[in-house]
Parts: sequence; C-alpha cells; structure tokens
Amino acid sequence: MARNAVNSEGRVAVHDLVKRFGSVAAVDGVSLDVAAGEFVALLGPSGSGKTTILMAIAGFEYPTSGRVEIGGEDVTWAPANKRNLGMVFQRYTLFPHMSVAENIAFPLKMRGIGRVERERRALAALETVRLAGYGERRTNQLSGGQQQRIALARAIVYQPRVLLMDEPLSALDKNLREEMQLEIKHLQQQLGITVVFVTHDQTEAMTMADRVAVLDLGRLQQVGAPRDLYEAPATPFVAGFIGETNFLPGRAVAAAAAGETLAVDLDGGGRVAAVAVDRLAAGAALRLAVRPERVRLAPSAGGLGGTVVEAIYAGVATTLIAELGGERRVRARIAAGTGERNWSDGEAVDVSWRPEDARAFAAGAAG
Ligand SMILES: Nc1ncnc2c1ncn2[C@@H]1O[C@H](COP(=O)(O)OP(=O)(O)OP(=O)(O)O)[C@@H](O)[C@H]1O
Ligand SMILES: [Mg+2]
Repeated sequence: MARNAVNSEGRVAVHDLVKRFGSVAAVDGVSLDVAAGEFVALLGPSGSGKTTILMAIAGFEYPTSGRVEIGGEDVTWAPANKRNLGMVFQRYTLFPHMSVAENIAFPLKMRGIGRVERERRALAALETVRLAGYGERRTNQLSGGQQQRIALARAIVYQPRVLLMDEPLSALDKNLREEMQLEIKHLQQQLGITVVFVTHDQTEAMTMADRVAVLDLGRLQQVGAPRDLYEAPATPFVAGFIGETNFLPGRAVAAAAAGETLAVDLDGGGRVAAVAVDRLAAGAALRLAVRPERVRLAPSAGGLGGTVVEAIYAGVATTLIAELGGERRVRARIAAGTGERNWSDGEAVDVSWRPEDARAFAAGAAG
C-alpha cells in the first residue's frame, strides 16, 4: 500500500474535553494534541476515561463541553461517518457471513467504489497485514491474531488519515500480543498514519507509542515520551503506575524550588537527598519516590540502615526487600549478571541512592 503523505490532515486535538454521565465525570477537562503521523497511547487504569475520549474523537459520543479537532477542523458535532477515521476494537467485529476479502472491501463498498478497484485494494491491504492468500477464507477459520489483522486491514483499506484503536490486542495471548505490537507500530510508520491507541497495559503503551498520555479519574496526569514518563514522572500516580516505585514519606529540611536538590528527613528517621519535583517550603510534607533498580545496598556502615527481610529470585533480576524500621519497606532490584553479592535474610544493610534518582513530590500532589 502506498505510503500516505504526512500532512496536517492527520492532526488530532481535543481541547478541555469534558464528558459527564449523570454525576460521573468520565473525562474531566482533557487537552491533548496529536501531531499528524504520530502514535499516541492513552494509558490508564480501568474507568480512567480512555474509551470515552476515543469515542469523542470518533464521533460515537458527543462531549458535555470542549472541542474535538481533526486536521485543524472542528468536528466536535460532526457525525462519525463524516470523520473518515479507521477504527479497531478489542472484540473482533468482522462480519461472519462474509469472506475475509469481502470484510476488508466492505468500507469501500459503503463509499461507492467499484468492484474491480475494491478487490485490488482489499488484496493490497491483505498483503500489508501479511495475510495475502487468505481472502477467500471465512473469518471463523482464522486465529484471534489473524482476525485482528483483518480488522486492521479493513480499518486502513480506505486510507483514513487517523486510526483509532481501543485495546485491540487484549484478547490475544502474550507472545502474539508482543508480535502484533511491533507489527502495528511498523505498519503505522510505513503508512505514516496518525494513531490514537487505548491500552491499560503500560508495557504495550511504552513499546508502541511515540508519546503516552497517562490518565487517572478522567484527568490527564502527564503526556510524554516513554523515557520521560519513566525517568521523570510528574506526579506520584505516574511514578506508581509506570514501572515500580518505592514511596517514603518525609519532610523538606529547607525550602526548595522544583528541580533543586534538597535534604529530606524521612518520617521514622534518616536524612537523605532527593530532587524536588514540586516547590517545597521548609518543613513541608512530601513523598519521596525512588525506583527499585536505583536503590543500592551495602554492608551496614552507619547510613540509612535496614534489614533484608526477603529475597525474591526471578531469573532476570533479584528483588530484595529491606525493612527500615517503623513499617517502612524498600525494594531494591539487582539485575542478573551484575556480579553483585547475594544478600540473605536478616542481614543488616545500608540503603542508599543517588540524589538525582529520588524524586520528592509535595504530599498533596495528585495520586
Ligand atoms: N455510557 C455510559 N454511561 C454511564 N457511565 C459511563 C458510560 N460510559 C462510561 N461511563 C463511565 O465513565 C468512566 C470512564 O469510562 P471509560 O469507558 O472511558 O473508561 P476506560 O478508561 O476506557 O476503562 P476500561 O479500561 O475499563 O475500558 C467510568 O466510570 C465508566 O463507568
Ligand atoms: Mg475502555
């Protein structure tokens, strides 16, 4: 299939989107700008508003307030069939009484395109999803992954400017899902199409997307490249939702502006260094966040002391749980092959990290 030119046609934007269902604000003031040809994942736990945002972009739900733009044009109130978008959902929505080729050609038929052209394009779309030769099959003679590829072929056959996908891989087993993640990403790059992809799986979002928009309770928490979200989470919610994080409550020893290194007195004892994410006043309550793979353990020598209470071996890494006293526990992850010594239960250790690896959030911060 020909590569679509990346132009502003494929730009998608929502401005101050609000959608209420009775008293529930499913989407609560979300603004997001997706560039033409960009792959953006909407990531969040169940009920965070992902599908509702996608439905507003598609035109299957109208917002309570706010705006939806596609290609710079306000389509907030335009009917779905006037938006020229491709859609793929979690459940296979193929027509069981049609062959694979007829399924794929169906959107073209709806658009009044003649038989010969329909067949030519359906065959090209089949090739794009690497199922050439499957055109005459019935859809119930296909595996789950093949059915999702057919659904994808049907969504791109009329060369829409934007492809919307809602958990399209969640019904597939792990290996096939991982294979399809890369396949869809490569296809998106080849076609130059804009993709908005809904998932609650952080690894899937990080693997596939140029940028990830993290949602919680209908609110946008942070939008950024996978690396930015992981390395510099803006809120405790993002720090806890993407990857694993140790949280320790404490107080700022002195005032610090966002981005400054500060000393923190941990609740329950111990003074450590961290970088302030939010502005913090002297004595302000905070939550310190540090990734398990950034926590270092060393033989006890008068630092922040703890006791190893559990070692969990998982092949690729070993997770050690150290108790700091006062119910505080810190997880440290040691990758296999680093040559680090084994720690055993009951061993006294010092727990530390580089100041830049610990992030201090104001205690009232979201999440
Ligand atoms: N048609 C509806 N009527 C009433 N409430 C709704 C409706 N659709 C969604 N909601 C509510 O809006 C909120 C957001 O729902 P939404 O389906 O957008 O979440 P989601 O992030 O897609 O979740 P999931 O991962 O479970 O699919 C939820 O609290 C849900 O119960
Ligand atoms: Mg959903």
